[in-house]
Amino acid sequence: MSSIEILGTGYVSAEKKISNFDLEKRVDTSDEWIVQRTGISSRYVSETENTSDLAYKASLKAIEDAHIQKEDIEVIIVATMTPDCMTPSTACLVQAKLGLNDCPIFAFDINGACSGFLYAFQIASDLLNRYHHILVIGSETISKMIDWNDRSTCVLFGDGAGAMVLGRGETQLYHYANSEGDLQQVLHTEGLPLIHDLQNSEPQTHFLTMKGNDVFRFAIRVLKESIENVLEQSGLTIDDIDLVIPHQANYRIINHVAKKMKVDISKFYMNLQEFGNTSAASIPIAYAMAKEEGLIPEHGRVILVGFGAGLTYGATLIDNVGGQ
Ligand code: ACO
Repeated sequence: MSSIEILGTGYVSAEKKISNFDLEKRVDTSDEWIVQRTGISSRYVSETENTSDLAYKASLKAIEDAHIQKEDIEVIIVATMTPDCMTPSTACLVQAKLGLNDCPIFAFDINGACSGFLYAFQIASDLLNRYHHILVIGSETISKMIDWNDRSTCVLFGDGAGAMVLGRGETQLYHYANSEGDLQQVLHTEGLPLIHDLQNSEPQTHFLTMKGNDVFRFAIRVLKESIENVLEQSGLTIDDIDLVIPHQANYRIINHVAKKMKVDISKFYMNLQEFGNTSAASIPIAYAMAKEEGLIPEHGRVILVGFGAGLTYGATLIDNVGGQ
């Protein structure tokens, strides 16, 4: 258990909105199929902005919302599986875009796929023992690793970024994080080739491939397990929770979990209709939107829960009732 305060939040979508009807013109699919199987109606795709640009824009909003100076930031963590480049890290690029080059900043990326923000949030909350203000970002331009001719994946994903500024406070957190290793390559991209021969210039694919049904079953199992784990740690029940913010992958996955837990679906926040699955950005975007909509009580309890490639998963229960 650790204690923090979420001082500010912000989010941005990518520039171009793509509807299911737009995708109908590109691949053999239909709005009806996509909505019925996933709940998704549209997604945003980046045309000119890379992951660090989206991260920077979301950060500016979170810093403004937190009512701090950007110079107060001591740590920047970016959760992403679609960085601008292999190095420098996206966090260092965000530092530069914020004009904090001369400030002492501990900046790094983590790749936990769609669980990335949860992982980053949990690391950040522990780092608050050493630092006062931490910027945690989930940002993705996942469109660049999607095969836009593959109907089984291209309808699911979108680009965007969400950010939080964390500080020290009285809000209690209960964390759970796990990973299982992906021996079956359930969610997978090819890697960069090892250079055995300097003449080797074989083209490599970096597109995401997915065994959708396996991910579906995995997601239902681990979302329930993760929520139950943090509830047990806290001694609370699901009835004590005001809102669950799940990774925004698929309405049917979330609905199955709600049914299995015998919880009304309205307790699960969803924006996937508009955004699709933005991977590591999905939970911070959803949190910031829910807050904007007045759905996060000032003295309430929220569970963040997610899963992703790795296979990774986890949850955090944010208990702000004791902090009043
Ligand atoms: N439009 C029309 N038909 C389609 C489409 C499409 N976009 N995609 C697949 N189909 C077809 C299939 O080819 C198949 O046809 P067939 O029966 O003739 O073979 C049929 O629809 C049924 O396919 P299924 O894969 O069984 O469909 P399902 O109901 O399982 O839905 C889906 C597929 C939406 C991918 C679902 O399995 C799912 O959501 N899985 C989880 C995916 C997920 O959350 N991924 C993100 C992980 S997070 C991360 O870290 C990246």
